[in-house]
Amino acid sequence: MINIEQSDSSKEVPKEGVLDAIGSTPLINVRRYLGTDDVQLYTKMEAFNPGGSAKDRPARTMIEEALRSGVIDKKTTIIESTFGNMGIGLAQACCYYDLPLICVVDPHAQEQNIAIMKAYGAVIERVARPLQGAFIKARIARVLELINQFPDSFWPNQYSNMKNPLAHEHGTIQEIDEALNGEIDYLFVATSSTGTACGCRDYLKKRGRNTKVIAVDAEGSALFGGLAGRRRIPGLGAGHVSSLAAGQEFDGVKRVSDLDCVVGCRRMVKYEAILPGGSAGGVLEAIRSMIPELRAKVCAAILHDSGTCYLDTIYSDQWVERELGCSAEELQARIEQPSCVGVAPRQREPRFTPQLMEHAIEHTTV
Ligand SMILES: Cc1ncc(COP(=O)(O)O)c(C=O)c1O
Repeated sequence: MINIEQSDSSKEVPKEGVLDAIGSTPLINVRRYLGTDDVQLYTKMEAFNPGGSAKDRPARTMIEEALRSGVIDKKTTIIESTFGNMGIGLAQACCYYDLPLICVVDPHAQEQNIAIMKAYGAVIERVARPLQGAFIKARIARVLELINQFPDSFWPNQYSNMKNPLAHEHGTIQEIDEALNGEIDYLFVATSSTGTACGCRDYLKKRGRNTKVIAVDAEGSALFGGLAGRRRIPGLGAGHVSSLAAGQEFDGVKRVSDLDCVVGCRRMVKYEAILPGGSAGGVLEAIRSMIPELRAKVCAAILHDSGTCYLDTIYSDQWVERELGCSAEELQARIEQPSCVGVAPRQREPRFTPQLMEHAIEHTTV
């Protein structure tokens, strides 16, 4: 029964505007995904941020810090090369502060993300052709041209801006650490700019925690000595090593394939009724592959976003077959495959056998 009377401590405090609702995302004890009770797993659900991802945090911090320090004011045009979660986070923050925003995108951008950024009032600037073989170079070149064109402009640049990791140091990890009373053996974080992982690592170090931070990166990512190649999961990995990512070290790096990400997402839906985004699927499969060394450990994982933007890709059997060469049957088998050491999640017996169904239909009165 729902208890309507609540104690004062659980009273909802009204938020001062939408940006005040960023953070304090739920931490969920996920008991079924791994198929074993030997490992405790807590997932930080960053999709609960108002813009839908962990990127709301650095987007807000980069804009507010620039306003606070006088680097920008109401007349400054914000210019960024992005079409993913950072673009949405920035569009939300700029819309809130009534700042003009130009987002430079390329043909790989998801139309849904562009539509969201436009809905927040961002102007979309499209580059059509790669520069020296890379769209990222073409986007950066266009950002620089625009900065020349708009003398009063600001490029937040999450790939070099130290306010990016700071947002996670003072938010994401602090919330996890406090919720688990500082008792986290392992923290798993997907990496691209490395802002999330760096901010979390720095907080844990400063607090003297013994937590091992594992960076989860994509096969085909140039980070951590990797070889750049084709990647199809947005937000995971990087085509080149940014100034923020250069020289960053973690307690371990775990690489996952595009298919691992899909399997993790689908498995999370099947066993936990949670619809995560692609990088989260990769993080979850990285943990599942390490069960033998994680026995009796408390693990936390940051799930950057939700699966709602990936319905036509990760959650489409046709896309998975076409792009990753994995049939729906093979995929199903991988989703249900028990971890090498764990106990398989309990399979439900069908409630209605064909005979029972026939009987029920026969005896139904209309
Ligand atoms: C879905 C998703 N996962 C993971 C990441 C990686 O986060 P970071 O850039 O802080 O390394 C991003 C970054 O854009 C993302 O959008």
